Amino acid sequence: MAHYFDEPSRTFSEYLFVPGYSSASMTPDKVSLQTPITKFKKSTQPVISLNIPLTSAIMQSVSSDELAIALAREGGLSFIYVSQSIESQAAMVAKVKAYRAGFSPNDTNIRPNQTVAELTELRKKTGHSTTTVTEDGSAHGKFLGIVSSRDIRPDYTSPETLIRDVMTPFDKLVVAQDGITLNEANNIIWEKKLNVLPIVDKKQNFVAYVFRKDYNSHRENPLELTDDNKRYLVGAGVNTRDYEERIPALVEAGADILCIDSSEGFSEWQKQTLQFVRKKYGDKVKIGAGNVVDGEGFRFLAEAGADFVKVGIGGGSMCITREQKGIGRGNATAIQDVAKARDEYFRETGWYIPLCMDGGVTFDYHMTLALAMGADFIMLGRYFARFDESPTQKLLVEGKYVKEYWGEGSARARNWQRYDHGGAGGKLAFEEGIDCYVPYAGSLHDNVALSLAKVCATMTNCGAMDIASLQKNAKITLVSAISIREGGAHDVMPKA
Ligand code: IMP
Repeated sequence: MAHYFDEPSRTFSEYLFVPGYSSASMTPDKVSLQTPITKFKKSTQPVISLNIPLTSAIMQSVSSDELAIALAREGGLSFIYVSQSIESQAAMVAKVKAYRAGFSPNDTNIRPNQTVAELTELRKKTGHSTTTVTEDGSAHGKFLGIVSSRDIRPDYTSPETLIRDVMTPFDKLVVAQDGITLNEANNIIWEKKLNVLPIVDKKQNFVAYVFRKDYNSHRENPLELTDDNKRYLVGAGVNTRDYEERIPALVEAGADILCIDSSEGFSEWQKQTLQFVRKKYGDKVKIGAGNVVDGEGFRFLAEAGADFVKVGIGGGSMCITREQKGIGRGNATAIQDVAKARDEYFRETGWYIPLCMDGGVTFDYHMTLALAMGADFIMLGRYFARFDESPTQKLLVEGKYVKEYWGEGSARARNWQRYDHGGAGGKLAFEEGIDCYVPYAGSLHDNVALSLAKVCATMTNCGAMDIASLQKNAKITLVSAISIREGGAHDVMPKA
C-alpha cells in the first residue's frame, strides 16, 4: 500500500506567530540576521555565512551579475543561473568577483584614435558616462586618460574628433596605485575634491575606479558580503549533466559556492555530482543540493555530502509542477519535516546542515515563518525579479509598470537539465513553469530594507534577537480559514 502522510500538506499563509515576551532593550535595529550557508561541526563556525538570510533564485530572469552585486551589497547572495553556456556563466561569475566593494570595474573603454561618434555609440550600450581610454581599448590595458560628459560639448564637438584630443590625459589625473584600501581612496577623493579616482597597477594598466558617489553607498551598506579581499561573494548554479566541465570553470572564475539546480533532488544524479566535487576538491568547494521535501530526501543529500540542502517542490510562484505532475508538498509542512530531520542528523552526527527554503515565499512574513520553522536562509525568484537590477525588461502593460519573469521549466528558458530524468535528454518534454509578468517594484536596496525591517520587527515581537533563537523560541499557530480572512482589512470600506 502506498504511504499516506497523517497531516495535510500546509503552506505559510495558514500560520501566524503568537508574540513572546520582549524586553525594552530588544529593538529591531539590534537584531542580527547573520546565518550559516555551509555545514559546520558542533562548536565550530561555518566557512560561509550570509549577513542577511536572502539568496536569489537560479533563474535566467533573476540572477545576473548585476543583481548579484546589488544583493551582495546588502549582505545576501545570488546564484548565477546555469541555463546558459559554461563560458557565459563563468564570465558572469568573474564579473562579480572583479568587483571589489567600493572599486568599480571598467566596462566602457575606448582607444585614443577612435572618434567621438564611436564613443557616443559605446555609451548608449553601457549607459556609463565615464569612459576609460586605454592603449588597446581593453578593460585592463595601459591607462591613457578619461573622457567624461564634461569633455564633450553636444552640438559643438565634431563627431569626427579623436578621443585623444578631448580626453583628460593620464598626467593631468590624480590616480592611485593598486593595493590602496577603500578608506585611503576615499581620503584622496575628499582631499583633492575629485569625483572619481582611477586605480592603476605598477605598469600603468587600468585596474578600477573609486567614485565619490559610491562613498555614501558603502557607509549605508555595513552588511556587504565580501571575502578577505573585499570582493563580493557570489554563487552559481550547476546541473547534473555537464558538471565535470562546468564546475571547474566556475571554480576557476571564482564562484564562492555552488548549488545543484534541480526540481527534484532525491536522485542518484545529485549524489554523483556531489561525489565528483568531493573527489576532485575535498571540502574546499562548497555545494548545496536539492530540492527535497521530506526527511528521507534530506538524509540522502546530507550523507551524499551536500553543504546545504534546498527545500521546496511545486511552490514557486510561476511553477505548474503540481498541476503537470502532481508532485510537491506545501512549503510549511516541507520545511518543518526537513528541519526535524536536520536536527536529528545534528544530534546524531554533530554536523549542522543549513536549510534553504526555496520558492513560494510570497509575503514578507513568510520569510520570518520559514526561518522560524527551521530554514537558515531563503531563495526567492519572483521577489527579486521585480527590481531594477534583475536582468529582464521593464514594460508598461495596461498602464502599470511590470517586469518579465519566466520559470526555468518554461518553453522560454528550456532548462531541460533542471527537469532531467536521465536517458537521452536534450529537450523539455513538457512545461513546468510559465512565462509571466511581475509588478515592477523599484530598487533592490529599498525593497530588501523594507522586507527585513518587517522580519526584524516580528522577531522582536517574538522575543528573538537572532535566527537561532527564533527557531528555538517562536510560538506558531495554525489559523482557521475564517481567521485567515480576519488577517486582512475587513468590514471597512477601503478608499479607492
Ligand atoms: P518564487 O520565489 O516563488 O518565484 O520561486 C522561485 C523558485 O521556483 C526557484 O528558486 C526554483 O526552485 C523554482 N522554479 C524555477 N523555475 C521553475 C519552473 O519553471 N517551474 C517550477 N519551479 C521553478
